[in-house]
Amino acid sequence: MRFAPREIVLKDGRTCILRPTAPEDAEAMIRYLKETSAETEYLLRYPDEITFTLDGEREILGRMLDDPSSVMMVAMVDGRVAGNCSINGIGSKRKIRHRCSVAIALYRDYWHLGIGTAMLAYLTDLAREIGYQQMDLEVVAENTLAQSLYTKCGFAESGRRHHALRFDDGSWHDEILMYKEL
Ligand SMILES: CC(C)(COP(=O)(O)OP(=O)(O)OC[C@H]1O[C@@H](n2cnc3c(N)ncnc32)[C@H](O)[C@@H]1OP(=O)(O)O)[C@@H](O)C(=O)NCCC(=O)NCCS
Repeated sequence: MRFAPREIVLKDGRTCILRPTAPEDAEAMIRYLKETSAETEYLLRYPDEITFTLDGEREILGRMLDDPSSVMMVAMVDGRVAGNCSINGIGSKRKIRHRCSVAIALYRDYWHLGIGTAMLAYLTDLAREIGYQQMDLEVVAENTLAQSLYTKCGFAESGRRHHALRFDDGSWHDEILMYKEL
């Protein structure tokens, strides 16, 4: 969906703009996906699994922008991509259409500056505006930083998915399921 840009001041005094991610961001977004997935193991994909083409990514971003029930939001600091987040409906069937899923990741250089908190606050506003009644997410059990952010932003734990992830080194990781009622 299209939404108004929001300006925030970071903990280090810099300004950050939260705005819709657009097709023109496709190249920067592919780079962002590859680089952030190399910086942390807590994202779903390994860098070699980011196989989007430029045209494919442009098409996805254009579709998200035109979709009134989805949000794709980029955080820009000094003209550079600092991070991205999104909301997607779980499904269109009547029994589940009140729920949306949330995803967020920032470049490591931009952690701890308040961007995550500001993005989740804006995503919450937009999710309510769309008409969703619940936000859902999954977080790797060891990812305590992300869990602090979610708890601070009003998410509660609803369960645990055993061995949800298996890393390349053979280790198993559970996921914590979290939700926020809107
Ligand atoms: C998880 C992530 C989005 C957090 O975003 P962020 O912008 O760093 O978070 P914020 O700066 O808004 O901080 C939110 C809370 O996290 C905790 N936190 C922040 N910095 C911290 C630090 N240095 N040490 C411990 N906790 C810290 C605090 O509880 C903080 O709240 P506070 O500002 O009121 O103290 C970010 O670290 C990230 O992109 N990580 C990699 C990708 C990822 O794990 N995504 C989530 C997948 S489920």
